[in-house]
Amino acid sequence: MSGIGAATPGASPEGSDPTSTPRDRSSAWRTSYTTVRKDLLAPTSWTNHRRLALLGVAAIDRSTKVLEVGSGDGNLSATFAELGFADLTGVEVQHELVAAQTSPTRTVVGSADALPVRSSSVGAVLVMDVLHHLDAAGIDAALHECRRVLRSDGALFVCEPGDTWVRRMLEPVVLSPLAGLTAFSRHKRTMLEHEQETLVPWLRGEREVERRYRSAGFTVEHAARRVLHTFVRLRPTHRPGDRS
Ligand SMILES: C[S@@+](CC[C@H](N)C(=O)[O-])C[C@H]1O[C@@H](n2cnc3c(N)ncnc32)[C@H](O)[C@@H]1O
Repeated sequence: MSGIGAATPGASPEGSDPTSTPRDRSSAWRTSYTTVRKDLLAPTSWTNHRRLALLGVAAIDRSTKVLEVGSGDGNLSATFAELGFADLTGVEVQHELVAAQTSPTRTVVGSADALPVRSSSVGAVLVMDVLHHLDAAGIDAALHECRRVLRSDGALFVCEPGDTWVRRMLEPVVLSPLAGLTAFSRHKRTMLEHEQETLVPWLRGEREVERRYRSAGFTVEHAARRVLHTFVRLRPTHRPGDRS
């Protein structure tokens, strides 16, 4: 499965060296994500609240057991706590991010294609900005895992980059030498350079993604596209003999 790999010491988050290896780009991604992003975008709470509202998360019962797949540095957990959710678990593949997490949320090291979670045990699964880091097989495996761990009355919430006109306009600028001018645009370029290999196929395959959701056992309940992202709420497809 493609994803974010192990660290390579010494890679610069500001670098845009086209000869850099995927491992260099992984390391630059991690440094930018955990340091530059925190300084520049803190507090990210407003964005998180907006995204969760667009997904419809605010409407779910506060006692719901929530699983966040690809929880990164755990920045969403503070937002969940602000919304009144108490039972949130994160699963993150990079042990460095889990080790550096400062929020009190329970986070375990694990991969989206083999979630360390019991079947039918959670009421809501959140996947934010993760699927576009995976290759096709990884996306399918992750969606099947989300379905496995969800109760049949639960919901899956997905927020991922969308192929919007704003993105089409901005991405060439972010990848151009102009992006070297500010710390914010350098951060964006580092993020984007790392993701290119899987982001491009993800955006191209957007029309196909509903078929993937269906084959993993989901029905799309609501989908919206805003500025740079798509927001999708899915329910397990009920099959004859299913029990809640
Ligand atoms: C862009 S970050 C998003 C983090 C968080 N969801 C947020 O919105 O702030 C993508 C995260 O997905 C994680 N990730 C990538 N592949 C993964 C996999 N196979 N299993 C679990 N997490 C994965 C990355 O390590 C990274 O922390």
